[in-house]
Amino acid sequence: MREQIHITDVSPRDGLQNQALHVDTQAKLELIGLLVDAGVRSVEATSFVSPKAVPQMADAAELVPLVRGRWPELRTSVLVPNLKGLERARLAGAEEIAVVLSATETMNRKNINMGLDEALDVSEQTLRQALAAGLRTRAYVAVAFECPFEGLTPLDEVVRLAQRMHAAGAHEIVIADTIGAAAPGQVRQRFAALREAVPLEQLAVHLHDTRGLGAANAWAALESGVRRFDASAGGIGGCPFAPGAAGNLATEDLVLMAQNSGLDTGIDLQALMQAVAFAERQLQRPLGGRSSAWLRRQ
Ligand code: HMG
Ligand code: MG
Repeated sequence: MREQIHITDVSPRDGLQNQALHVDTQAKLELIGLLVDAGVRSVEATSFVSPKAVPQMADAAELVPLVRGRWPELRTSVLVPNLKGLERARLAGAEEIAVVLSATETMNRKNINMGLDEALDVSEQTLRQALAAGLRTRAYVAVAFECPFEGLTPLDEVVRLAQRMHAAGAHEIVIADTIGAAAPGQVRQRFAALREAVPLEQLAVHLHDTRGLGAANAWAALESGVRRFDASAGGIGGCPFAPGAAGNLATEDLVLMAQNSGLDTGIDLQALMQAVAFAERQLQRPLGGRSSAWLRRQ
């Protein structure tokens, strides 16, 4: 049997959070349905954040019960920045939450209006309460390579925060290259340190593809032993509060790379391209990862 990698498609959350065109709840459901049809078993569906900060995610409380009702087997994570977000997520029936902690002072302030110490404290409290309520948990360590405000992020700080998230009980610690600034050698170096500090099977990587190195970075993470990946259908995505953050590593690029390297993702590429085509119609612009032009000709 081929070795498996686990992919969380974050296109409904990271992909849609920063789009100029509004995408309604029914269209989000349709997108998630197409991802499920393609074999995606885990999505990040939405976020319970301030609707003033991120208007595209204002329908989170309506979307989650619809997704949970329609696809009970689908792992459905939702991003929550604080205890209020957790409370809203629980009321909506979420079974998995993700907290977001940035590894620099300025990025936390810009993203969630807290300093690093407060963001760490709030993330820990949110994780503990989520665990007590029986939820699955993910913890992002954002700007884990470079911060758009503070430059190169010290590796020691990334390791310290990953350890704290692990100690607070996060099931998955998601090391995020928020602005897509990483290179493969750095990915190797950072995961070599991280896997000494946190169990490797609990580490995930969330890559943005700003400089075209997303797939190369994913390969470096694979070679470092990481088997959990975030990616976004069509490569859509980007944090509205991190200048210069382009789209995520495209799910189709990751699947193509993994599949042709003998790894199993459970995702059918041609079916996945239906989800990409749907997102294109919704957002009214061409989308797709670096492999998508070739994939469309198959
Ligand atoms: P704040 O203004 O400091 O919050 O915002 P506050 O506690 O002072 O409250 C202000 C208002 O927001 C109050 O309402 C609160 O009730 C409300 P009002 O009295 O004015 O009517 N509020 C909330 N409403 C809904 N849901 C909540 C919530 N919390 C407070 N959870 C806050 C702080 C965190 C809310 C705000 O800064 C925020 O929502 N930020 C959004 C952050 C975000 O979504 N960023 C993008 C996702 S992170 C990302 O993309 C990176 C990632 O992909 C990994 C990577 O690539 O690195 C994950
Ligand atoms: Mg992101």
